[in-house]
Amino acid sequence: MKSQNKWWKSAVIYQIYPRSFADSNGDGIGDLQGIISKLDYLENLGIDAVWLSPVCRSPQDDNGYDISDYQDIDPMFGTLADMETLIEEAGKHHIRIIMDLVLNHSSDEHRWFQEAKKSRDNPYHDYYVWRDGTEGTFPNDMRAAFGGPAWEWVPELGQYYFHQFSVKQPDLNWENPKLRREIYDMINWWIGKGVGGFRLDVIDQIAKEPDKRITGNGPRLHEFLRELSRETFQKADLVTVGEAWGADTELAKLYSNPDNSELSMVFQFEHICLDQEAGKEKWDLAPLPFLKLKEVFERWQTQLYGKGWNSLFWNNHDLPRIVSRWGNDRKYRVESAKMLAILLHGLQGTPYIYQGEELGMTNVRYEMEDYRDIETLNLYRERLEKGYTEAEIMRSIYAKSRDNARTPMQWNDGENAGFTVGKPWIKVNPNYREINAAGQISDANSVFGCYRELIRLRKKYPVYAEGEFRMLCREDENVFAYLREDEEYQLLVICNFHDGTVQNPLGEPDAGMKLLVGNYPEACRGAVLRPYEAGMYLLDKRR
Ligand code: NOJ
Repeated sequence: MKSQNKWWKSAVIYQIYPRSFADSNGDGIGDLQGIISKLDYLENLGIDAVWLSPVCRSPQDDNGYDISDYQDIDPMFGTLADMETLIEEAGKHHIRIIMDLVLNHSSDEHRWFQEAKKSRDNPYHDYYVWRDGTEGTFPNDMRAAFGGPAWEWVPELGQYYFHQFSVKQPDLNWENPKLRREIYDMINWWIGKGVGGFRLDVIDQIAKEPDKRITGNGPRLHEFLRELSRETFQKADLVTVGEAWGADTELAKLYSNPDNSELSMVFQFEHICLDQEAGKEKWDLAPLPFLKLKEVFERWQTQLYGKGWNSLFWNNHDLPRIVSRWGNDRKYRVESAKMLAILLHGLQGTPYIYQGEELGMTNVRYEMEDYRDIETLNLYRERLEKGYTEAEIMRSIYAKSRDNARTPMQWNDGENAGFTVGKPWIKVNPNYREINAAGQISDANSVFGCYRELIRLRKKYPVYAEGEFRMLCREDENVFAYLREDEEYQLLVICNFHDGTVQNPLGEPDAGMKLLVGNYPEACRGAVLRPYEAGMYLLDKRR
């Protein structure tokens, strides 16, 4: 198939974090039947596909990113039959279902690991990464992403296993062809069930070489990916997106090469990591360097043009809410949420919307006892031990905790925001009375209305998918503006990224430029731009 014809090039994908989306049975945890009950809402928004965070069987140490059976659904979310119904019903709403594949590690409760730790000559032993040693002397000083050493001692074997995330997430050994084959068979089984694609969790970490301290971008990574793609994805018309924290534009061109040899695209995080102190952790907060943000977007837009494909996102289940992060979630919540949407949805790539982003949902500030995320809980403990003050730690948690994204979806202003009739597994954000879907779906001027319109426009005009990108007023400290252009159209996007009134460096758009979407009743027609003012204009060159 010609790459230009790929369906996902003009698609918009919606991410659902199942446990926080909609609860159908009152146990306080979202589930598959809950998602099925919201398909009308998703169709109304206009999205083409849903990426489901993991729903496979799991002890839920990391909310499902620790899978104990890749071919079954966790009872908390429903049954395999529910999953089949979801795929079928979503299809009737013109929505494809994208599964989350966690292939870097499994749960320690997976049958493979249970076998692997029985003896060194068990056939499954080599499915994981083991090193000899003595208790208390780690093979090296590598640390796990959620804190603590990356090695765990198994006394019965006299060996350590390697885990890049929690102790309950042992890393899989991709060097072992038997493991790889087993993974391909599992993926093909899901393809047979009619899924529309896959999101691949921390895929750049599968080719680890811990003895050399290599986790991301290991030497065999792209060899493994090409084999994976050949044995599975290439057999169907799927979208595949790899999570790749270590990707730069050169690597992204390999991953998303239009020859379809690896993946459709990757999630790269260069823009997302800008508001942290250089060389430190995400918790070490720094102001967003706006000119750098522009430079990063320009580089990705121009360097991947014709040579790869971008994913476009501000949010996911690991990131704080964008309107609280780089917008203003108080006085200008609606204006800034729309500005951020307009800025992103004019770019080349496949946009992803994270549940609630289309409503302008915000970060939350809980008491410590109300946080649930393993990463947040470990960070709190570790930093207290290291001597940080409570206030310093809470400041970081308010800004960056993954639970900001995991508060229940705000459906209406009723009890628990309409998410559950039971007790929600995590508290609802108290602002649900003001921010909820019911209050927005019939209002064209709502944040929801803006996202809906942006999705509609992307389907209508090919310039969104294929137009060339040109950054405008690169040095301007307040305004993010760019052009997209193909043979028929010119698309102009102008965004004031700040909460003050600023000079419009571009002046008034040409008379032929038609305003497609803005965030003030009369957008960007003058010499100044109001707080967070944004406009997207179209020029039909044939007229
Ligand atoms: C990335 C996922 O997005 C995150 O939620 C998870 O904790 C880690 N990978 C480990 O699977």
